[in-house]
Amino acid sequence: MNLPTEIRYRRYEDWTEDEKNKIAENKTKSPWLTSYHLEPKTGLLNDPNGFSYFNGKFQLFYQNWPFGAAHGLKQWVHTESSDLVHFKETGVTLEPDHVNDSHGAYSGSAYEIDGKLFLFYTGNVRDDNWIRDPLQVGAWMDQDGHIEKCDKVLIQQPDDVTEHFRDPQIFNYQGQFYAIVGAQNHDKQGFIKLYKATNNDVHNWKFVGNLEFGGTGSEYMIECPNLVFVDGHPVLLYSPQGLDKSELNYDNIYPNTYKICQAFDTHAAKLLEASPIYNLDYGFEAYATQAFNAPDGKVYAISWIGLPDIDYPTDQYDYQGAMSLVKELSIRDGKLYQYPVSAMKDLRLEAKALSNRSSSQNTYELEVTVPADDKSQLILFSDEQLNGLTITIDTTQGQILVDRSSAGQQYAVDFGNTRQCDIDKAETKLNIFVDKSIFEIFVNDGEKVFTGRVFPSQDQSGIYIKEGQISGSYFELRV
Ligand code: FRU
Repeated sequence: MNLPTEIRYRRYEDWTEDEKNKIAENKTKSPWLTSYHLEPKTGLLNDPNGFSYFNGKFQLFYQNWPFGAAHGLKQWVHTESSDLVHFKETGVTLEPDHVNDSHGAYSGSAYEIDGKLFLFYTGNVRDDNWIRDPLQVGAWMDQDGHIEKCDKVLIQQPDDVTEHFRDPQIFNYQGQFYAIVGAQNHDKQGFIKLYKATNNDVHNWKFVGNLEFGGTGSEYMIECPNLVFVDGHPVLLYSPQGLDKSELNYDNIYPNTYKICQAFDTHAAKLLEASPIYNLDYGFEAYATQAFNAPDGKVYAISWIGLPDIDYPTDQYDYQGAMSLVKELSIRDGKLYQYPVSAMKDLRLEAKALSNRSSSQNTYELEVTVPADDKSQLILFSDEQLNGLTITIDTTQGQILVDRSSAGQQYAVDFGNTRQCDIDKAETKLNIFVDKSIFEIFVNDGEKVFTGRVFPSQDQSGIYIKEGQISGSYFELRV
């Protein structure tokens, strides 16, 4: 939603209780509130931040402007989880209340160090002429959720970058702390800077080099770079704004992408033998995915189900955005797989055979198979006239097509109503999670993923098999 700058950057303390209550109350009127996905308590949710493990629990923050469905003065909102399925807000926030983050506590990451959680983030600072000074800053959160900000700026804006310099990710590689930061150069090309903590002290960062990862610089900015180590391979996840479509086919306003590499040369700031660039998600919205190497040896990822610069039907209720399910990353046959954490299975109620249903609660999982040499068509969020989200799985042609042109309230139509991906011309398995106004489709155990939203009317909760041999199970989910 487009709101004037004065409203979006109004100080938090200037909002009255009455105004805040109205915003909170308006959200409760939405017919699209989700059941098992994390949504903002109020206002807009965007990037996942500080996804980590600390104090015996998984930690996740989200970027938030609490006063409506717009990108304003951002804070981090803290949640915790034991199972990576249920996330609970703790009431802790990282607010833009310091000279070094006066115009927003922008995205960043977290890592446990000596019994405290270190938060590494971007302080968005603007002067009276609205000139931005992007600062990489830090804070410590203790076990009681008390947050103390570091007064020192940890990384200043280097000479070779514009005001677009943000989203530090701290990671530990072979016992040494490193950080990568998204940047734009003066030729308006996106790139990534690599830093190293001197003597492993996260208050002192030394520039190592501009990370070589086989990028061409066709994007104008790289947001939220994220390096994880999956089954022995460095995997770079990133959000390249303005990426040339000759480099990668995508339809969303900005893509969320990845490369699988073979090794990380820390001295040369180089990811070796980087694969081509791939879409992380083939759906309508998934952005700023953040992943981390957890102490249990697994790699967990979570995405913002939303995109920058898009209006959503929920805006009328003063909120926007949701988090995806947590996906475990793995590499099989050289390909990246993303699959919901196993605890998601605990939400399943009794299995029923997939069959037409004129109504559901729009809170279910389908686990279905389409045989080879078949073309199946499934309609979800469907009304009696079969208007809904149409998923066509064509194992003869080797393609999946998701069409939301007749599904619920239309939005973002300038970016097209269909999304597709290629699959092997073979039997294909799908796990489809539906949650009121969200769908997440995992193809062949997470080889390809489609994430997106649908804003159905009340009579749009049916499931129909329009054609084909598709079969499998329907699980209502416990919420
Ligand atoms: C990505 C992003 C980040 C930034 C944050 C601000 O969606 O633009 O680059 O830190 O959102 O909310």
